[in-house]
Amino acid sequence: MAMFILISGILSVLHVAYLNPVFSPEDEFHFKTWMAENGKTYDLREYYHRLHIFTQNRRRILEHNADRPSYTMGLNQFSDLTFAEFKKAFLLHEPQNCSATTGGHPRQAGPYPDYVDWRTRGDYVTPVKTQGHCGSCWTFSTTGCLESVTAIATGKLLELSEQQLIDCAQDFNNHGCFGGLPSQAFEYIKYRGGLMTEDGYPYKGHDSTCKFQPEQAAAYVKDVVNITRYDEMGMLDAVARLNPVSFAYEVTADFVHYKDGIYSSTKCKNTTETVNHAVLAVGYGEQDGTLYWIVKNSWGTSWGRDGYFLIERGRNMCGLAACSSYPLPLV
Ligand SMILES: *[C@@H]1O[C@H](CO)[C@@H](O)[C@H](O)[C@H]1NC(C)=O
Ligand SMILES: *[C@@H]1O[C@H](CO)[C@@H](O)[C@H](O)[C@H]1NC(C)=O
Ligand SMILES: *[C@@H]1O[C@H](CO)[C@@H](O)[C@H](O)[C@H]1NC(C)=O
Repeated sequence: MAMFILISGILSVLHVAYLNPVFSPEDEFHFKTWMAENGKTYDLREYYHRLHIFTQNRRRILEHNADRPSYTMGLNQFSDLTFAEFKKAFLLHEPQNCSATTGGHPRQAGPYPDYVDWRTRGDYVTPVKTQGHCGSCWTFSTTGCLESVTAIATGKLLELSEQQLIDCAQDFNNHGCFGGLPSQAFEYIKYRGGLMTEDGYPYKGHDSTCKFQPEQAAAYVKDVVNITRYDEMGMLDAVARLNPVSFAYEVTADFVHYKDGIYSSTKCKNTTETVNHAVLAVGYGEQDGTLYWIVKNSWGTSWGRDGYFLIERGRNMCGLAACSSYPLPLV
């Protein structure tokens, strides 16, 4: 037994020395700490593979943070993944039909408040949720927006079902864990008789058969309002006067480890063709001359600023104004 431990100890040292000469004991210490904090375990082979990826991610985070950035990065539950793996598990894969999202939002002429946050205007925003290994961001953007518009209209904040959208909204160009768009999900809810609650139709995070029971619907859509493509002022008008707004944008590798501050990137593109993630704008503001949106994500509360992020506003950053919409609730 002792011999075995000794040999496997030597083997793992050799493994490090020959295959991955880049780790220091300090790197391994950080990895093991992160593993414990995130409840991760691997077999030996996977351990070195993940240590390698983790170490690269960690160095990148340290480099980024050392450079007085507009936003900081940090370790999170995704730190043992390459961006290719992250993309495959969590983002929209193929271009969605954003360009079908034509205008309809009636914009008024300001003036607008400098700062808006629907989380503090009243009980209008539900807690941050977690999508898990499923490209279902579009369902969380959809429920988040409908939860808020319904609460603003009725005074009652309910949590609504993402799983119903994953299982049932295919006829409107949605594809469950393989993607979709909030505007198309609002259309589904409008034409198919409403959306059940989270408790009534709980989240599973994988594709399944539709079990919608119309008599148990808890929220309804009277109409879908699309904001004109690239009209970021239209989004501002809607968020300032009416309610939170669903939007899509392009996530690139640097975004995955966002921790705090105002995100801005030169790597992402800004058109309808490249958007790969949908989220919810719940407010906006300005800090030291930089305008920003306050955005609710669906990657749990340990990610970013308690599950939220700030992203630069006013420049169609990462295509965030390519494809935004909100529903009018039927109450
Ligand atoms: C876009 O719309 C077309 C026509 O409705 C449809 O065939 C196609 O599957 C849609 N693409 C996606 C990704 O939903
Ligand atoms: C809103 O956009 C969706 C597609 O994203 C489209 O199907 C729908 O017709 C649009 N609605 C309006 C009122 O333009
Ligand atoms: C995208 O970015 C380019 C380069 O900054 C700019 O010229 C273009 O107007 C932007 N397009 C949109 C739709 O925002």
